[in-house]
Amino acid sequence: MTAVSVVAVCGSLREASYTRTALTYALDAAETAGATTTLLDLRTADVPMYDPDADDQGVSEHLATVADADAVILGSPVYHGTFTGALKNFHDHCGWDEYEDTVVGLVATAGGGSYASTLDHMRATARGVHGHVVPEQVGIRNASSKFSPDPTELDDRAITDPDIEDRLRDLGQAVVRDARRFATDPCQNPTSDENATAADDD
Ligand SMILES: Cc1cc2nc3c(=O)[nH]c(=O)nc-3n(C[C@H](O)[C@H](O)[C@H](O)COP(=O)(O)O)c2cc1C
Repeated sequence: MTAVSVVAVCGSLREASYTRTALTYALDAAETAGATTTLLDLRTADVPMYDPDADDQGVSEHLATVADADAVILGSPVYHGTFTGALKNFHDHCGWDEYEDTVVGLVATAGGGSYASTLDHMRATARGVHGHVVPEQVGIRNASSKFSPDPTELDDRAITDPDIEDRLRDLGQAVVRDARRFATDPCQNPTSDENATAADDD
């Protein structure tokens, strides 16, 4: 099975972030599907405001984490109908180098009922750096009612709505599925052994 890695970027700076918990479930499914996984939590990542004039802003390690990933799951709370400034700022540090040939998944967590614009904005900004966004995506409305404390569950929280947990797990599997497609697609990776075999058969 092709080895792939998945990174989730949490765009909430809140200590008890629902978005982080949601991403943890998606990463767990990705791991079950055979991927290695990393959570890049912007609460602790210490990312300065992007300065186009600066040569080195001390984020090269985080950028390398994204660049080395086969798939990235972006997660954000809904803030005023869009994704957070924290996620946008991190994204401004990134470019094609980080996202070319990278599969992207999206998660948005709303306090109220509406997350569609946030997911659409995240999709557009991922396209801007050449990320390939999977059609599966997860929006969570009324987030405070969808999680309950549970020290036996991931991130010490259970998800109270099984449909949401299913969707998060489907998303984790979907990014692994498409990352493997990329890794074994002869058009993307003509030198791999698997693809040499495929090419020889033609
Ligand atoms: C500055 C700010 C703006 C917000 N704007 C919205 C909004 O437009 N729509 C909404 O449904 N919830 C809004 N919320 C609520 C958050 O989306 C909600 O609390 C979310 O679940 C927090 O995610 P987190 O726990 O990962 O930080 C806002 C919260 C903050 C702090």
